[in-house]
Amino acid sequence: MGEENRKETVVGTGKEPRLVTGAEGKKSRPAAAGRVLSGMRPTGRLHIGHYFGALENWVRLQNDPAYECFYFIADWHALTSDYADTSGIAENTLQIMIDYLAAGLDPAKSVIFQQSVIPEHAELHLLLSMVTPLGWLERVPSYKEQLASIRGKNLRTYGFLGYPVLQAADIVIYSAVGAELFVPVGKDQEAHVELSREIVRRFESCNGYYIRGELFEPTRKKMFNAILSRLAVLESPSNPDFTPEQFLRHWVAEQGFDNFIDGLISDEQKSFFIRRRILQEPKALLTSTPKIPGLDGRKMSKSYGNAITLSETDEEIRKKTKVMVTDPARKRRTDPGNPDVCPVYDWHKLFSAEEPGRLEWVRQGCTTAGIGCIECKDAMATNLIKWIAPVRERRVTWENDPKGVLEILDEGSKKARVVAQGTMERVREAVFGWKKKRDENKK
Ligand code: TRP
Ligand code: SF4
Repeated sequence: MGEENRKETVVGTGKEPRLVTGAEGKKSRPAAAGRVLSGMRPTGRLHIGHYFGALENWVRLQNDPAYECFYFIADWHALTSDYADTSGIAENTLQIMIDYLAAGLDPAKSVIFQQSVIPEHAELHLLLSMVTPLGWLERVPSYKEQLASIRGKNLRTYGFLGYPVLQAADIVIYSAVGAELFVPVGKDQEAHVELSREIVRRFESCNGYYIRGELFEPTRKKMFNAILSRLAVLESPSNPDFTPEQFLRHWVAEQGFDNFIDGLISDEQKSFFIRRRILQEPKALLTSTPKIPGLDGRKMSKSYGNAITLSETDEEIRKKTKVMVTDPARKRRTDPGNPDVCPVYDWHKLFSAEEPGRLEWVRQGCTTAGIGCIECKDAMATNLIKWIAPVRERRVTWENDPKGVLEILDEGSKKARVVAQGTMERVREAVFGWKKKRDENKK
């Protein structure tokens, strides 16, 4: 008996076909596929930190037939911090799309789309916001940090606090029937994915079950009373006006449906609660990414001015890398250095690995003071320029065809929207039951 109601029934619309996602470019997709979703905010040009921290991995996943990939531009999320000056968002969206394409995202293999043209993301955000306790949002580590560190912007807004709820909606609106949902993110975003899981669990504890219909009064009332006394919560009713059923529903929302079912009630009682899965808990896909510090040794970031963008010219690359931070202990040319604490060496590992003998030359030369930092950086910059050339070339091609770029984005958004609409039909019916109500009132 107990097993029966735990079996996960998916209330699908059956409208989530694989083919609409535009992943036709991949041959022979295995049945047990996983969906992948990730995005970036259009706050500026992408740099090599974005490439090695995320994009390289996104491209790898798109080329793996086990995954159906959705990558998007989170233009609504840009508003959470830039609401007072929205002038750059449209241009940044275009530029990020060009960066995506230059980095190798392929619209024949991935669905590439824009958040704000899919209103279903906003609708799901609204519904999820209803069940999300404030405390969960106030506790997000990056929330407090950013409130404290970002100057000149008033971030004490409803939208900024709700950032993770919108992010949860972005992710779980691509819940798939019979597949896992993965979010490739960096360590710093892991807490957001974990929060998405909690929001989904709470949403499901409110809407992801129903009570078998053949249970009529007064049996129904009796059962709720029996369950409540078993749960030993009846003694302290939070609201004297609640019926036992209302009481129980609020109790389940707080405690979680799975906790409620797992061992809190008898098997016979369990059999009256039928689980129906609506949204899926996503998983963070943490892939180890190479270390790529900024030119000054801190985390690479546009706002620190320590980045190399994907559109940087050879001259700029030479100029910027010349003054790059090295092993701070190597003050004079005659001092030996330690490549393991030098940002230049981190970059060498990414750009010089294919040049035979180069990494050994650096290690040997550095530790014996056989080479100077100037020639070391020079060799690194030469390889960085070699690496960036084809990316930049693709970038220039797309820069010259912005209309084509936007068409690709619109095509992707259309495909994503079909999937999002399928999920929302299921969500709306689970929350409101309008179809059921209409069917009851047809006669
Ligand atoms: N928070 C991400 C960033 O800072 C952008 C983002 C919005 C996102 N929604 C998402 C990432 C959903 C992964 C999944 O760039
Ligand atoms: Fe860094 Fe190269 Fe100088 Fe060594 S020689 S400290 S690896 S820049």
